[in-house]
Amino acid sequence: MSHAPQSLNPSCDKPLLVLGFESSCDETGVAICSTEGKILGQALHSQIAMHKDYGGVVPELASRDHIRRLIPLMNTALEQAQLSLKDMDAIAVTTGPGLPGALMAGCAFAYSLAAGLGKPVIPVHHLEGHLLSPLLSANPPSYPFTALLVSGGHSQLMAVEGLGRYSLLGETLDDAAGEAFDKTAKMIGLPYPGGPALSKLAEQGDPKRFELPRPMMHSKDLMMSFSGLKTSVLTTAMKLAGVSSPSETMVLTETDTCDLAASFQAAIVDVLVNKSLKACKQSGHQRLVVAGGVGANKHLRERLLAEAKRKKIEVFFPELSLCTDNGAMIAFAAALRLAENPSLLNDADYAMLTRPRYALHELQA
Ligand code: KG4
Ligand code: ZN
Repeated sequence: MSHAPQSLNPSCDKPLLVLGFESSCDETGVAICSTEGKILGQALHSQIAMHKDYGGVVPELASRDHIRRLIPLMNTALEQAQLSLKDMDAIAVTTGPGLPGALMAGCAFAYSLAAGLGKPVIPVHHLEGHLLSPLLSANPPSYPFTALLVSGGHSQLMAVEGLGRYSLLGETLDDAAGEAFDKTAKMIGLPYPGGPALSKLAEQGDPKRFELPRPMMHSKDLMMSFSGLKTSVLTTAMKLAGVSSPSETMVLTETDTCDLAASFQAAIVDVLVNKSLKACKQSGHQRLVVAGGVGANKHLRERLLAEAKRKKIEVFFPELSLCTDNGAMIAFAAALRLAENPSLLNDADYAMLTRPRYALHELQA
């Protein structure tokens, strides 16, 4: 099956237009996507600067900020596309999973807007947005493929047979990969969000200096676990800093910090690469798709490309700017669904339902 969505407007030849909103965590994203799969306008605001002082996302601040940003970002995206609200055929919004208040902010706005305009709402699963985002790249994968979904809240391996046909192959038993990056970074004194900061330092470090565990790497199944790795980093850091309790202030040299970051990154990437290739073997797929914030990690990208090539598996990534949360992936996922099922245009259900906890394999095709 080809990846390319078709333009399926029964009444005229023009493609349909979807205005999509993302507000599940600490990014507010808005984008306009056509049923041809083209992003016509997009705008994004990251709350990193606002949460930085607190060392992590403060949910209440996140919700309030989404409310402030949604309208200006929507106007920017519309301006970029040179379109107006009345040109839109449907409104899409992330309904879950995510922070309850943050989801409510985006959904309350999107559903009210849709009701006011008399347009249908297409609810979008946040992880489906991530999962399909590599289809927006210059070299998109065809179905079927195996997907490694690695974000701040999830680490999952999925078998993807087609749009909405997802089955879970394996997942983390505890911390998500992004969460492990963030918590480890915090422990070694790096600012939020830890993933990008840690991977930057890791580039200057020695990945072989500390022998950190690769939890469950050789287990036969596709389950993962990252909390033990994080604890190993903590005990190593405490030894290096000469402290006996994690509550004591730890001061590490620059070399120690870089080497610890590189050793941690090497361990987590080893596990992700190993499990991804094992998942492809199990599913029989020759294509591996990587999505979610951790998919931006340079070392993960390089290792996956090199190891998969040896097994004749092709690896696909989203554009770097689409790895972390954004509105384009939400508008795109909804546009794909609308292209496959134009009857969604007749749906006038404005009974808003947010789902902070929401498994991807619960989705229907
Ligand atoms: O997909 P995403 O933007 O949000 C969620 O849906 O969770 O992912 C954010 C996660 C954070 O944990 C962040 O630290 C991590 O992705 N991340 C990275 C990198 N860039 C973002 N982790 C490792 N290396 C990176 N370059
Ligand atoms: Zn995300």
